[in-house]
Amino acid sequence: MSSSPKPVKKVPIHLQSAQNRVYIKNGQVVNHDKTFKADVYIEDGIIKFVGPASEIGVPGGVKTIDATGKLIIPGGIDPHTHFQLKFGGTVSVDDFYHGTKAAVAGGTTTIIDFVLPDKGESLVEAYDKWRAWADPKVCCDYGLHMGITWWSKSVSDEMKIMCDELGVNSFKMFMAYKGLYQLNDTELLETFERIRSLGAVAQVHAENGDIIAKNVTKLLSAGVTGPEGHELSRQEEVEAEAVNRACILAHQADCPLYVVHVMSKSAGIELARARFRYKNRGIYGETLAAALGTNGTHCLNECWHHAAAHILSPPLRPDPTTPEFMMQLLANDDLQTTGSDNCTFNKSQKEIGMGNFSKIPNGVNGVEDRMSIVWEKGVHAGLLDPCRFVAVTSTNAAKIFNMYPQKGRIAAGSDADVVIWDPNMTRKISKDTHHHACDFNIFEGMVCHGVPEVVIVRGRICVENDNVRVAEGYGKFVPCEVRPAFVYDALEGKVKPEEVVNHEEEMINGSKKLNLCDALEIEIPYQEPITRALLSGNACMPGAGEGSLASTPSCRGHRIDGQRNMQESTFSISEELDRSGNRSCIKVRNPPGGKSSGFW
Ligand code: URP
Ligand code: ZN
Ligand code: ZN
Repeated sequence: MSSSPKPVKKVPIHLQSAQNRVYIKNGQVVNHDKTFKADVYIEDGIIKFVGPASEIGVPGGVKTIDATGKLIIPGGIDPHTHFQLKFGGTVSVDDFYHGTKAAVAGGTTTIIDFVLPDKGESLVEAYDKWRAWADPKVCCDYGLHMGITWWSKSVSDEMKIMCDELGVNSFKMFMAYKGLYQLNDTELLETFERIRSLGAVAQVHAENGDIIAKNVTKLLSAGVTGPEGHELSRQEEVEAEAVNRACILAHQADCPLYVVHVMSKSAGIELARARFRYKNRGIYGETLAAALGTNGTHCLNECWHHAAAHILSPPLRPDPTTPEFMMQLLANDDLQTTGSDNCTFNKSQKEIGMGNFSKIPNGVNGVEDRMSIVWEKGVHAGLLDPCRFVAVTSTNAAKIFNMYPQKGRIAAGSDADVVIWDPNMTRKISKDTHHHACDFNIFEGMVCHGVPEVVIVRGRICVENDNVRVAEGYGKFVPCEVRPAFVYDALEGKVKPEEVVNHEEEMINGSKKLNLCDALEIEIPYQEPITRALLSGNACMPGAGEGSLASTPSCRGHRIDGQRNMQESTFSISEELDRSGNRSCIKVRNPPGGKSSGFW
């Protein structure tokens, strides 16, 4: 029996300049959750149509690209760059022009840089400075995170201005760089509480700065002054301890946490344990192109310049099996994103640390090569499927920082940040051909499958036929609103953990994939953070019978009389509880190691 074809309502294409209109035909669209054959039509910087050719009428004069055999993927989002950063007594050489040009050349169409105020500097003033540097130079869209490099009432007040008026929804705190940016645990707790009250996302640089400071002194006085001293002063467990502590502190403040640059197996395991313990709610992790594409044996190279060029913090690990382990964590959703931490210094700048490893300016390249490294070590190596590649190079960052689906998806209505990716083509990485301003490339000589053949930045073709033609100042600032649904719905239990993890449980070869803790069959009972328990009336105060408040329906969801709203607090929980004298008497509904509260 033959059925007559349904009449198809064709999407009309407006007659405008071919410059504004691009038609990509015969490609394979890859989003984080599915992949399918489709044509893509772009007009005025927006994706207007994704679907079969039969549903779109294409007039003449439109720039048409044949993507047969290629993938059409969302432009990469690099959530971690430091362009023209004043750091270690010098300034990183990739400015917002060279940095974003390199990004685009490699298939990244959005970057998120960090505003890092000096100690005592106003957040708003530092933000204005970054905008003034970036706006005239950026070749692709960008967002900003704010560093909380010191802590005071004025900083806390300005965080609200950042969120409400200036499009910043994420704040990075440093647990290292003692005497410069490092915050102590009380300050961390207070920043987490503040961030939670604003509906923002906390980030940490997780290394124990106190241990590092001691080790640096010990190593230098023992005569260890070369680059090899860097990793010795901040070994894996120094990173792992801080990851564990940050996760617990953030959980106590009921604040979502994104751990930047997870660089070691031990730190990755701590993050995976925390995600497992908290049922995938509120903890996210990023690793770097550097951690996936190279390793710390380079820091032992007999050439001082070669070794120093590989110095960043946390360090590359000397264990050469680390990169594959980190990729496995990405594959299993123990980690969610890849950044570059692009913070490049030339040979002459690295020489500041000759004779004292602790003075070597920290930082490496990665913004240009991140996508190719993840493809090569992930997809080409058989550890990631193309959907997961899109998730960890683009979509997850867009979701966590609330840019999704404007960014991070090939769909009608999304920004036309589109890459035509040739999975079969190869390219050799070299400082001689890269688009960075720096004179070294940590991936030198590596041959990568996966090449961004065409890169379209908000509708503008910037890479084609091996030519990189960017426009300085074309990029726009992307304001990020607070309360990213992906993060807050999970934190508040509005979605089930399965929905959070979703399709990533399926392996490329079809067998079930387990994350680290599942695989080890570890059982860690969940304990609700006291902050949340108090807010929801899910805790028992002294004098009341155990469980009485929580079990009285009228008390549910109400504040206990006389208590402040903990999420509005700018004080540490511990200080408050100490002052009220209540601390030792508070009983929560679920005893340590006990059953889940039933909220989940
Ligand atoms: O070594 C690094 N990572 N340099 C940039 C600053 C930071 O800590 O992210
Ligand atoms: Zn850092
Ligand atoms: Zn960084």
